Amino acid sequence: MTKPIWIKHAAQVATLASDVKGPRSKAAMSDLGLIEDGSLWIEEGVIQAVGTTKEIEKRYGDKTKEAEIVNASGHLLTPGLVDPHTHVVFGGSRAREFEMRLEGATYMEIMNAGGGIHATTRMTRTASEEELIEQTMRRLDSFLAHGVTTIEGKSGYGMNLETELKQLRIMKKLKDKHVLEIVPTFMGAHAVPVEFKEREDEFVDHLIRDMLPAVAEEKLAEFNDVFCEKDVFTPEQSERILEAGKQYGLIPKIHADEIAPYGGAELAARTGAISAEHLLKASDEGIQAMAKAGTIACLLPATALYLREEAAQGRKMIDQGVPVAISTDCNPGSSPTTSMPLVMNLACISMRMTPAEALTAATYNAACAINREKQIGSLEVGKQADLVLWNVKNYQELQYLFGVNHVKSVWKKGVQVLTAGRPNEDAATRLVLGRT
Ligand code: NIG
Ligand code: FE
Repeated sequence: MTKPIWIKHAAQVATLASDVKGPRSKAAMSDLGLIEDGSLWIEEGVIQAVGTTKEIEKRYGDKTKEAEIVNASGHLLTPGLVDPHTHVVFGGSRAREFEMRLEGATYMEIMNAGGGIHATTRMTRTASEEELIEQTMRRLDSFLAHGVTTIEGKSGYGMNLETELKQLRIMKKLKDKHVLEIVPTFMGAHAVPVEFKEREDEFVDHLIRDMLPAVAEEKLAEFNDVFCEKDVFTPEQSERILEAGKQYGLIPKIHADEIAPYGGAELAARTGAISAEHLLKASDEGIQAMAKAGTIACLLPATALYLREEAAQGRKMIDQGVPVAISTDCNPGSSPTTSMPLVMNLACISMRMTPAEALTAATYNAACAINREKQIGSLEVGKQADLVLWNVKNYQELQYLFGVNHVKSVWKKGVQVLTAGRPNEDAATRLVLGRT
């Protein structure tokens, strides 16, 4: 038995608690379930009570003397941020491509010339498992330092059976090495690998016949994602891949309408995808179809900024009833960042989302986009105690003071893994080893 933890006197707790079930849209995205002078009571990694400090004090009475007390006075407390879209396991760097793009080359030109995703695929195929684990661990540390406690992670820099499995197995192994949780997605259809050039359908056949069953057999993924884009996979090929994945229980996700309008949003709604990603060029019909189907729009404003593109129409999507989540898209080409706080800032600045909507999109709706809203994404009784204490007083300040990391402390499953902005490595190690 570990001591209960009582976090008290938080200037503001954004609980994200709500009666609305499932992904939130429209006005529900603005309801943060705020408590002023708030308190949280945690036992064995689970939230036991949430309320004002007075309420919690009254409820626990003498027991408060046995608790580990954290005085959060002057600080905002929120759920741990959730990043529902990352390509976190990869080898190498594409810094030179960044320079080339600034000199005038486009993202697709670089990719079609064998760079881009193909370059990272070469570097990921040749990297050893140890190297990839080491590099990924550093990225996970950085996510944690930015208040992120759970991420989704995609394969897709293998595009052959061996390396796709290598990436997914690494995500599984990281469970015993790092406190951050990774929810895995198979994305063998990230591009058509060079060895299948101009034989796209053969690659799709191979993926369906050989890769999907192997991934399912080892239970290595929960979702199946595809880059549906002009010059990559057509909507027809994407649909085949996603429908085939469903046979193995893999839930569809789609990189849709990123570079050009291509019917990706419509396809996401039609195939029952849990989310559609990017959507920079989504059509009005596609947005309406997603609203009707309840498909989550996973928007990536850091990617749009990095590609110097106009961001997705987040404001319009929310107003039309699409539930919106946001993510870093952490990857070596179009968004090499782990900063969810920056992504929240950009959701406001580039997509005109409100500070409250941006926080919902980075917590509860993000958890919905990876099917984890029952465990994480809000501070409610019975949920995992994944929390962030911020060096700001309220949620408006969090979004207003931009480009700065305001994280003060982070708890994962009730263990303080980052204190005063510094990682608490002993606590993190005990947590992965199952002893707290
Ligand atoms: O989500 N659009 C496709 N995939 C990634 C980029 C991957 C890369 O450039 O390495 C994305 O932006
Ligand atoms: Fe992506």
